[in-house]
Amino acid sequence: MVTQGEGLYREACAACHGQDARGVANLGPSLVDSAVILEGEAQAAVAFIRKGVALDDPANTTGLVMPPSGGRPDLSDQQLLAIVEYLRARAVVP
Ligand code: HEC
Repeated sequence: MVTQGEGLYREACAACHGQDARGVANLGPSLVDSAVILEGEAQAAVAFIRKGVALDDPANTTGLVMPPSGGRPDLSDQQLLAIVEYLRARAVVP
């Protein structure tokens, strides 16, 4: 069964972060060991995704752009939260 979070992840995030969330070279970093996803309140991760990471953002670590809401402004906070929960559930703790 595909959960809501998994379905939305595949639709909205997998192109850059990988079907397995382990990242895609030159598109997006791995999310299975991401501190943004794994640490602190899930709501903070939702806010991060909502904002995205511009090229000139001092927090940018890759020199690549993460569009606000992953380019899906239509997704609700509840839907982004479902994606965060999905990613937390598949976290790989190093
Ligand atoms: C167009 C490509 C693209 C899409 C689509 C995209 N991202 Fe990203 N994402 C990136 C890039 C590039 C970064 C790294 C930005 C930087 O350098 O800090 C990033 C970073 C992140 C981070 C921070 C990772 C870390 O620990 O530094 C999270 C969390 C994240 N994305 C979640 C998502 C989610 C959830 C979605 C789907 C709703 C999504 N992204 C869609 C490109 C994308």
